[in-house]
Amino acid sequence: MDMTGEYFEEQAASLEPPVLHVVADYDAMTARAADVVAGVVRSRPTAAITLPTGSTPTGLYRELIARAKQGSLDLSRMQLFCLDEYLGRAPEDEVSLTRMLIDEFIEPANLSEEQVHYIPSTADNPRAAADAYENEIVEAGGLDLTVLGLGPNGHIAFNEPGSPPESRTRVVDLTAESREQNSAYYGGAEIPAQAMTIGIGTILAARRILMIVSGESKAGMVRQMLEGPMTSDVPASWLRLAGSRYEVILDEAAASGLSGR
Ligand code: GLP
Repeated sequence: MDMTGEYFEEQAASLEPPVLHVVADYDAMTARAADVVAGVVRSRPTAAITLPTGSTPTGLYRELIARAKQGSLDLSRMQLFCLDEYLGRAPEDEVSLTRMLIDEFIEPANLSEEQVHYIPSTADNPRAAADAYENEIVEAGGLDLTVLGLGPNGHIAFNEPGSPPESRTRVVDLTAESREQNSAYYGGAEIPAQAMTIGIGTILAARRILMIVSGESKAGMVRQMLEGPMTSDVPASWLRLAGSRYEVILDEAAASGLSGR
């Protein structure tokens, strides 16, 4: 198959464009994203969902937890799939992405162990375990929704620049830039050189994809992701292949680099 950007540009040209929402600020982005997650869980209480880690989704976690506590949202049957983890790091490690999710969402939302699918970052045979994780997603009925953040270099989950659109769960090398970015989450701790991540193909197979981005520092990358060529240099640009199954919520600052703004 011709895997050039042009081939995919042609394919995407025949698709619906992504659904774009530009909202005032971080809180409005968070509220709108929570509405999307809540809608998916309401229509399928056992929905299989991924939530990203990092600084962008912390408001979303809080909003979902608040709605669950008020009784307007029932998270007790949803299935949470982890997007990515540093290779060799277990969920309980201090420097671990899953740990962030446990502390900030899984425990406060009272999710049970049966509801959480950990990416097998400590497996003896990572390749076989990554394939098994893909099967676990299929057995859950496929992903109903993947919520994603945008890496400063255009990565999604840990699909770094160079990641092809058909990629699946696998071990990847992290860029120096992403290791430095992630180090800030843990007060400057050393970040492993590799990670296990679900692939771009895994994300594109989801029934709905939701990207949330906030802040002016990502405005240039948002423009490339939505208006630049679809290319492995900007992994997030591949999400346009999902057409209108792909929804983007930006605050004004993140949208400020888009043409016509
Ligand atoms: C991290 C994660 C991504 C996350 C992104 C953005 O490295 N692997 O899943 O979405 O970078 O992080 P932040 O929201 O802190 O900008």
